[in-house]
This record gives sequence, C-alpha cells and structure tokens, in this order.
Amino acid sequence: MNISNKLCSLLHTTESICVLTGAGISAESGVETFRGSNGLWSKLKPEELANFDAFIRNPDLVWEWYNYRKKIIHDVKPNPAHCALAHLQDLVKDFTLITQNIDNLHIRAGSKNVLELHGNIERSYCISCGKSVTHVEVTLENKVPHCSSCHGIIRPDIVWFGEMLPEGVFEMATDAATRCELFLSIGTSAVVYPAANLPLIARKQGAYVVEINMERTEISNSVDETLLGKAGEILPQLVKMKEEIKG
Ligand code: OAD
Repeated sequence: MNISNKLCSLLHTTESICVLTGAGISAESGVETFRGSNGLWSKLKPEELANFDAFIRNPDLVWEWYNYRKKIIHDVKPNPAHCALAHLQDLVKDFTLITQNIDNLHIRAGSKNVLELHGNIERSYCISCGKSVTHVEVTLENKVPHCSSCHGIIRPDIVWFGEMLPEGVFEMATDAATRCELFLSIGTSAVVYPAANLPLIARKQGAYVVEINMERTEISNSVDETLLGKAGEILPQLVKMKEEIKG
C-alpha cells in the first residue's frame, strides 16, 4: 500500500478521526452495492422500491424486497474493513463513524455510537402512530406487518429518496466532520446528498481527507488523497499502523 508522508505522519499524531462509509465497505461481505454495472440500481428501479409513494401503492412489493435483503444481510458477516474500524475507535480519543449503510454490519463488528444516516434494516416503525418495532413478524400470507397498537402499516426504518434524514443525526455528523483532523471516505460513490457533502465540509474546515475506493469517484478531485483498492485490504493496514504507533 502506497500512502503519502502526510497521511503517515497524521496517523502518528492524530487523536481525532471521522469516517464515512458507503455500500462498498460491505461488498467484500457479499452485500451488493447500488451503483456501477452490477449494482442493485442497474437491475431494479429505486423509484418502485425506495420511495414512500411506491410503498403506499404496493407495500407488499416493498416488504418483499426488504425481507429479501434482510435475509442476505443475516447470512453474511462483517469483513476485515468493518472490524478494523471497530478497533480504530479504541485507538483515538475522538472517533466518529458515520454510515450510509442500513445493513447493521458496523454494529455487528463492534462499532459503537454509529451515526446511521439512512436508517437500519433491523428497525421498522408504524406510519400511523410512529411506534418503533424491532422485530417484524413476516408470513407468506400476510407480507405487510401491522402495528400492534393502532393497526397502522409498519414500514422499514430506512430513509427513502426524497425523505429527510433522521432528526439530529446529520447535525452530529457535520459536527464530527467539522472538528476532525483526519476524515476517511470509504466505499461510497459520493453522489447521494447530503452525505456526499461531509468529506467536503471536513476538508473546508482543515481536515486531511482520504478516500478509499476501488475506483475514482465524484469527489476524488476534491480530496487530499485517494487510496485505490479494497477497503478490506487497505483499512486493516492503516489501523495496524496506528496501533503500532500507539505501542
Ligand atoms: P454506491 O453503490 O453508490 O457506491 C459504492 C462504492 O463502493 C463505489 O464507488 C464502488 O467503487 C465502491 N466499492 C465497491 N467495492 C469496494 C471495496 N471492496 N472497497 C472499497 N470500495 C468499494 O453506494 P453508496 O455510495 O453507499 O441509499 O450509495 C449511497 C446511497 O445510495 C445508499 O445509502 C442508498 C443508495 O440509494 C439508501 O438506501 C437511502
């Protein structure tokens, strides 16, 4: 792995790191990404599956899709990239992990206080009374779950296109991006806003911004350094360097 002298020396000194992850960090676990020639959105229509109006029109279809994804996610495990980040949180005083992923793999790897910008597939809530539900019983005959309190329709706790991010979460993410010294943008195409703004906010506030991706992205020209390769190979090496420095 080729890293700059600047990144090497920052790894030595920094006590403040903020990380943004996207679907690419889970690719090596076996979870498909959204974009690119084999991405989910090249085969499926997000406007039919990740949109509130579509859900109201056809909740069966949307639940079928999320149950299918849930099954895939339950069958996979966190990979070395998720585990490296879970370890990194113990190596610096100020660490924030922000994710666009809904797959819960960071939490399963041991990361704490994860800022989930787009929700979590393990949670659901009632669209009528707002009650949150952690376990959704799904049967073949009755695919759409209903609220045990008011019988309203339950929806996955996922931010769909056109919806607001969960209250307060983006503000906490912005604060962390603003105060960090090192910002890592990992496995994201950086085309979905406002998440894609975070590396730019960090850089504007003086952080050194490093992107880790298989290919160059929309923000490659705006970051300080791009490390091309698999997150599951690069991150464990970076975290090992930090660990060795700590002794
Ligand atoms: P994308 O699918 O848009 O981008 C995934 C990125 O990961 C691409 O840039 C790939 O090159 C990169 N990648 C793939 N494998 C990798 C690996 N092993 N190591 C490092 N990088 C790798 O996913 P996101 O940027 O996360 O929204 O997409 C953002 C949002 O769009 C998602 O959160 C989702 C989607 O619509 C919601 O679900 C609300």
